Amino acid sequence: MDIHFHRAWLDDDEIGEVVDTLKSGWLTTGPKTHRFEEDFKAYIGCKHAIALNSCTAGLHLALAAMDFQPGCEVITTPLTFPATANVIVHQNLKPVFVDIEEGTLNLDARKIEEKIGPKTRAIIPVHYAGHACDMDAIESLAAKYKLAVIEDAAHALETFYKDRKIGARNPVAFSFYATKNITTGEGGMLTVDDDALADKIRMMRLHGLSKDAWKRYGKGGFSHWELHLPGYKYNMADINAALGIHQLKKVGRFMEIRKRHVARYDEAFRDVEELEILQTRDYTRHAHHIYVVALRLDRLNATRDQFLDAMQAMGIGVAVHFSALHLQPYYRKTFHTQPEDLPVATQYCERILSLPLYPKMSGEDVERVIDSVKSLIAKFGKKAA
Ligand SMILES: Cc1ncc(COP(=O)(O)O)c(C=O)c1O
Repeated sequence: MDIHFHRAWLDDDEIGEVVDTLKSGWLTTGPKTHRFEEDFKAYIGCKHAIALNSCTAGLHLALAAMDFQPGCEVITTPLTFPATANVIVHQNLKPVFVDIEEGTLNLDARKIEEKIGPKTRAIIPVHYAGHACDMDAIESLAAKYKLAVIEDAAHALETFYKDRKIGARNPVAFSFYATKNITTGEGGMLTVDDDALADKIRMMRLHGLSKDAWKRYGKGGFSHWELHLPGYKYNMADINAALGIHQLKKVGRFMEIRKRHVARYDEAFRDVEELEILQTRDYTRHAHHIYVVALRLDRLNATRDQFLDAMQAMGIGVAVHFSALHLQPYYRKTFHTQPEDLPVATQYCERILSLPLYPKMSGEDVERVIDSVKSLIAKFGKKAA
């Protein structure tokens, strides 16, 4: 592959901090994790930041801590990574998919109310690609029907909704997976604004123990833990936090490069009639986590998958975000979801592809991607035939 779909940007700072962690002899949750949490809290401007081993863990813990009765329903988008809906199933709850809106591919807030019923307990909006969902609309429905809101911000580090940073309100789960805007290899952060919920989640991230090992083995007399809940093994390790501490400092620099690459892609593709580029609403500041285009298949003599294959053959890494969940065998079989239930998601997910977008890419790399896309449009375009 000439231009990979993603490559992480790691410098001597991250490497030095990991080596320091290794030399310290303390590898699991400890001082570096604590520092990363404090830095993240200051960066977002939130009350609590709880470091975890994934965003999935954050979504799961937020839901688990809310103790909804089995069989209750949680509304979310079908155009997301399986983790968003799987955690609903893990809690013996039922995912109820609401269709996405054209242009942004975010959960369509106008279609939520018709899916709210007596068993609905929560909404999980996903800020797709780094574009904020319409949070005023979602939160006013949540207030009207007394529903919880848990935000999936796997793509949304640096996203604003109006003048508020995503993460400052509600439980919000971030991802530091290898391809995310900043990475800890694997990792996540859950921000919470409710003190009691934060305490419960801190306990649940480490089996339900009242004290984690760092505190138990610290200075002072011997200290026993107590088990208050059957929790999970979701804590972040200091080796991962060591990366996060330095990645977080670079977030602004990374963002500037992403923005430049996105501006160039937009400019190059805006007038290509075989492509649809996504829209940005006035209420968001975009985190530009991924760059998604939708093919206008009626103007092309190729399917999206043939287009993907051709891009790969030209040495360009591509991806699909996402294969919609209501079309997946598990969700179809278990919850009887049908393609026609969610027509907007069904048609987009056959047309979308994600192009490489990351700060390690050079301007020339971006031009190579643009040239490759345009050469395939020329090859497959109906006008060319
Ligand atoms: C929208 C969305 N939600 C959740 C996740 C899960 O993140 P993690 O791998 O950190 O658990 C991802 C991962 O890519 C994602 O894209």
